[in-house]
Amino acid sequence: MYRLDDALSGGRFFLNSYVSLIKINRMKKLVVLTGAGISAESGISTFRDHDGLWNNHRVEDVATPEAWERNPSLVNDFYNQRRKQLFEVEPNAGHHALVQLEAHFDVQIITQNVDDLHERAGSKNVLHLHGELNKIRSSVDPLLIYNCEGWELKLGNLCPKGSQLRPHIVWFGEAVPMIEPAIEIASQADILVVIGTSMAVYPAASLIHYVHRSIPKYYIDPKAFPIPGISNLHIIQEKAGVGVRKLMDELLT
Ligand code: OAD
Repeated sequence: MYRLDDALSGGRFFLNSYVSLIKINRMKKLVVLTGAGISAESGISTFRDHDGLWNNHRVEDVATPEAWERNPSLVNDFYNQRRKQLFEVEPNAGHHALVQLEAHFDVQIITQNVDDLHERAGSKNVLHLHGELNKIRSSVDPLLIYNCEGWELKLGNLCPKGSQLRPHIVWFGEAVPMIEPAIEIASQADILVVIGTSMAVYPAASLIHYVHRSIPKYYIDPKAFPIPGISNLHIIQEKAGVGVRKLMDELLT
């Protein structure tokens, strides 16, 4: 026979132990903001480096809704070429190292990239801020999104509402629908890692301001710089492949 208060205190003991166990086992949330630089070692051009895409193409000609209105063929060809190239490249050491970090952290990637190299490397949680190359969508209804079969979207391929299908890319001047969930994720970070981005494009670059000032932040990029107003920022001036490895050494020792 047990007394009621003995049974209750025993129950409380097990409950407290269980809660402690959950706390110990709760992995820290590692939020990673990536840009074109993480895919550079896979052979995909960045945008603003000397050999970058925006040095050979004018943004106004290929990455705005006005360009699509004016010359859909030019815009479509630009993204068809990007999509075609995606079939020819592979994830690199930087992408793979981020997957390995999932064994130790709750890793959430927010990427500005439209490639699928994080997913192909095996990352589980990837949020695309600027759209996805392998998807296409209706020109009249942004919610009608489809997988692109193969690399080529043809003019004349229509959505069920009869409009031309367009690349599922957030162009300059368009709203960034995924920014709200991205802010939510950034504000919950225990550690923030920024990789391979010039931090020149908003609102993506503003995400770092949603991370609490006491939270450690790492910026991996050969051209990484101190970001005004951001404290606790550790700069790793390396390419992604080497830089993420160094980050792992630091976080795991
Ligand atoms: P940028 O081209 O602006 O910046 C690329 C960054 O990658 C630079 O800071 C480089 O120093 C760095 N980098 C180059 N090689 C690297 C390597 N091997 N490892 C690590 N870093 C390296 O590209 P983003 O900042 O991603 O948007 O550009 C943001 C947005 O601007 C893009 O998503 C795109 C573009 O216009 C749209 O098209 C909507």
